[in-house]
Amino acid sequence: MSILIDGKALAAEMRQQLAERVKQFKAQRGKEVGLAVVLVGEDPASQVYVRNKIRACEEVGIRSFAYRLPAETSQQEVEALVDELVAAENVHGILVQLPLPKHLDERKILRRIPPAKDVDGFCAENVGNLAMNRETIVACTPFGVMKMLEKYGIDPKGKSAVVLGRSNIVGKPMAMLLLNADATVTVCHSKTQNLKEVCAAADILVVAIGRAKFVTADMVKEGAVVIDVGMDRDENGKLCGDVDFAAVKDKASYITPVPGGVGPMTITMLLYNTVLAAERS
Ligand code: GUN
Repeated sequence: MSILIDGKALAAEMRQQLAERVKQFKAQRGKEVGLAVVLVGEDPASQVYVRNKIRACEEVGIRSFAYRLPAETSQQEVEALVDELVAAENVHGILVQLPLPKHLDERKILRRIPPAKDVDGFCAENVGNLAMNRETIVACTPFGVMKMLEKYGIDPKGKSAVVLGRSNIVGKPMAMLLLNADATVTVCHSKTQNLKEVCAAADILVVAIGRAKFVTADMVKEGAVVIDVGMDRDENGKLCGDVDFAAVKDKASYITPVPGGVGPMTITMLLYNTVLAAERS
């Protein structure tokens, strides 16, 4: 039987610490920590994410500025809002919720956010700093995974780490963080040959492929650490991860559940990045 990595408990513990730092910031600087969240359109999943982000800000005392714009908002209007937020002294972090409606040029909009306020860690400068193992702002989900490993005393040094998925938001920064932590890292994706064998050789397996219960027991080495970044629905519409939890849990040494694993850590790391951005300002 494996040990469950409790993301919910770690998230709660970290939020308490962040609330203290937010208080200290207020006492020292005489102003609040501020996060601006921009949502364009009515994508239902994005609405839920944004609501949860705003609620999490309240929980730790971060002042949130939510901008919910209609789907037909023009490129110029979104850019003007971002420019305003860039100039605002009480805004320490800016988050533009993705995906944006099709008519908007996402890259052009995100490029207006300076690295110091890019609390998603998406911009080229922050990604470049991560690649070079320098001080930066790290994308929230992979950063949360590293915090979970640390909390459970799992040191990637010298281990074989396999990342399943190569997205800019999760897979690539995850691979860089593990490499910076001295793991030997392999990144797999839909075109990878011998996928099962590669995964089955991993001491640490991080799965972010977006397919329900994709990782089966035969893809997992006995005693491996399995981190499931997935948020999927199974055949009955029930929330599940990218890992077949019931089949894998007895083989892994440590495993994250879905829900209650990586999910709660992602928003916590957004709060963390916002407090860091404020403290560095
Ligand atoms: N859409 C889905 N995940 C994310 C995220 O982490 N940040 C932003 N800005 N948009 C998202």
